[in-house]
Amino acid sequence: MVNQPDQSAQGEQKYPPLERIPQHVGIIMDGNGRWAKARGLPRTAGHRAGTENLRRVLRAAVEFGIPILTIYAFSTENWGRPSGEVQALLSILERVIDRELAELHAEGVCLRHIGHLERLPARLQQKVRDAIELTRNNRRLILNVAFDYGGRAELVDAIRRIIADGVPAEQVNEELVSRYLYTAELSDPDLIIRTSGEMRISNFLIWQGAYAEFYVTPTLWPDFDKDELYKALVEYNRRQRRFGLVPES
Ligand code: FPP
Repeated sequence: MVNQPDQSAQGEQKYPPLERIPQHVGIIMDGNGRWAKARGLPRTAGHRAGTENLRRVLRAAVEFGIPILTIYAFSTENWGRPSGEVQALLSILERVIDRELAELHAEGVCLRHIGHLERLPARLQQKVRDAIELTRNNRRLILNVAFDYGGRAELVDAIRRIIADGVPAEQVNEELVSRYLYTAELSDPDLIIRTSGEMRISNFLIWQGAYAEFYVTPTLWPDFDKDELYKALVEYNRRQRRFGLVPES
């Protein structure tokens, strides 16, 4: 992950610096299945290509100075997919930890997880916990992996814990709810990217993304490269974030 500016033969920068870099980017990595189908390959080949692409996007995110990335790798609804595909996605997570963890750690990536860990196989749960522990003090990039994650389940979990903690009703406000979410220590996403053209939030960061800028590209996830990420950042810089206010306020 070397931060070398890309230059054309004429010496102009391929990725001119941008005024605003989102502090937290969420990505709905969609389109692996269609990418595979278009090539006559099984869907799992699309997920493998998507995983390869993740390395490229992580590198690009570091180069562009994005500090927090949350990726939607497996939703609470994805358990309903054919068992072979579910197994493949679990294996991918395990393989990423087995094969990539040392490099991610060396590159200063802090791994986090949001979602339900306890439904994963015990061995994989332990690997995830160990990876989080190993990388906890890294700060070059926080990579938050949403795996067995659903925004509604997250809110249900938060409400249960608020009640279990005996918080009086009058003390429940937005700030308190945020502190009970899986993302309690992270800022809300400024930008949510969805690949493959679908115009849906699909239960991803539904509370935290209330004011995120939403960027949808028809590009399928395995093809979403550095140029595509830069395009999303350019578009983000064009947006006027108003948070429900009028421009002059
Ligand atoms: C959506 O594409 C993608 C997923 C459900 C899985 C995303 C997972 C990866 C990219 C692998 C990286 C994972 C880890 C654990 C780091 P889709 O299958 O819904 O595509 P389709 O809509 O074209 O069928």
